[in-house]
Amino acid sequence: MQKKREHWATRAGFLLATAGSAIGLGSLWRFPYMVGENGGGYFVLLFIFFTFFIGLPVFMAELTMGRRSQRGPVLAFAELHQNSKIWRIVGWLAVITAFIILSYYLVISGWSLNYAFMSLNQFYLGKSYDEIVGIFDLVYKSPQMNLFWLFIFALMTGGIVYGGVRKGIEKWSRILMPVLFVILTGLFINSMTLPGAGEAFKFIFVPRSGQLSASTVLNALGMAFFALSVGLGILITYGSYMHSKDDIPKTALIIALLDISVSLLAALMIFPIIFTFNFQPQEGVGLIFKVLPVLFAKMPGALLISTVFFLLIVFTALTSTISLLEVLVATAMENFNWTRQKAAILSTCAVFIFAIPSALSGANELFPVWKKVYGKNFFETFDYLTGSWFLPLSGILTAVFVGWALCPQIRKEEFMMGSKSKWVYYPWVFILKYIAPVAIVLIILNQSNIVNIDALFNPNLVK
Ligand code: PFF
Repeated sequence: MQKKREHWATRAGFLLATAGSAIGLGSLWRFPYMVGENGGGYFVLLFIFFTFFIGLPVFMAELTMGRRSQRGPVLAFAELHQNSKIWRIVGWLAVITAFIILSYYLVISGWSLNYAFMSLNQFYLGKSYDEIVGIFDLVYKSPQMNLFWLFIFALMTGGIVYGGVRKGIEKWSRILMPVLFVILTGLFINSMTLPGAGEAFKFIFVPRSGQLSASTVLNALGMAFFALSVGLGILITYGSYMHSKDDIPKTALIIALLDISVSLLAALMIFPIIFTFNFQPQEGVGLIFKVLPVLFAKMPGALLISTVFFLLIVFTALTSTISLLEVLVATAMENFNWTRQKAAILSTCAVFIFAIPSALSGANELFPVWKKVYGKNFFETFDYLTGSWFLPLSGILTAVFVGWALCPQIRKEEFMMGSKSKWVYYPWVFILKYIAPVAIVLIILNQSNIVNIDALFNPNLVK
């Protein structure tokens, strides 16, 4: 017999849990370095545009599917289309993507936890820039440290999901998300007092001529997808715990606004520091772990600022890893009839095991020839596979499913239920049918290097 499905206890709890899923390492770690690498300006404006006009419609599509089917991704795709075997595979694609992303996301989350602890000891005091940067390399290359912090983070995530939707996910999100906003706003205000704040504002918001390229456009689109957590079945799963009186467009809009605010606050917090201390905006993926401690060390109140900053990253990562694990747990519960506890324990163990090669990638110990064979280490291989292929593919298929395959009557009824802004329905369907699929195909082509879109637009780039 089917057990009664848990639902969110309060509307605020649901909002915070979903916002917690969206806001993560993507907003705080990936967005700032992407802003730096893409030169700010157009990239930021396009990211905002794409979040609203492409990411948000797919986000609403997932919530609609979840609430209608009351299922996780696999059964949602199948049951909303006459038990279709083909669409069931699309559901599995989302679950597998969530599994792989969770594995290496836990490794990066572990680094943040490690840095929060190291900050308590003010590891940067009395050290040169090179020495501080060297600490990141030590952490990255140490098998024991990576495994230890991965284990701790997996345990924290598993423990919270084990507690269930209300007691676990909702309760923790209600505590962690407001704390995040307070900490982030404090750091943002602090950065605004730095001399580099004006230059940072200009860099982030003012478009410069000659800076716009097709790949900037596509990077911004990819970033909007990553940041909103679409394409992983997370929002199908969280949508399945929604009540019929909840307003899907309004919920989605609030979350998109929160997500954009946090991403922008993160950039506005980091760039004034970069410009004040004359660093390069193009520091790349190591931006947070390598550069910020150097800057913290020069600031008054460094102990507090750096510890709080890394705790902030830990919080945001945790609310995202919870949502990724919940996809696996919900799927295992309904497909294999497991209890939540059994599903939580076994999924956590499986993800932990799969994360081990990623955690050991820096040390290059487990699969020493992996990089020689595939050109990227284990961690990078799966980051690339999921980010460049699985995630956009799953996103496009979700848009196509709701735009073309889902019965229009069901789609309309579910979308309208509880919604006060009914006019959104028609533009939403139009975007799902025509705009989102084309845009995502372009991302996939560009990211996979099948087509160099920059070169198509600017033949001078072809050497
Ligand atoms: N949206 C969250 C973040 O930006 O960190 C979680 C996440 C979703 C991460 C999807 C990665 C991903 F591919």
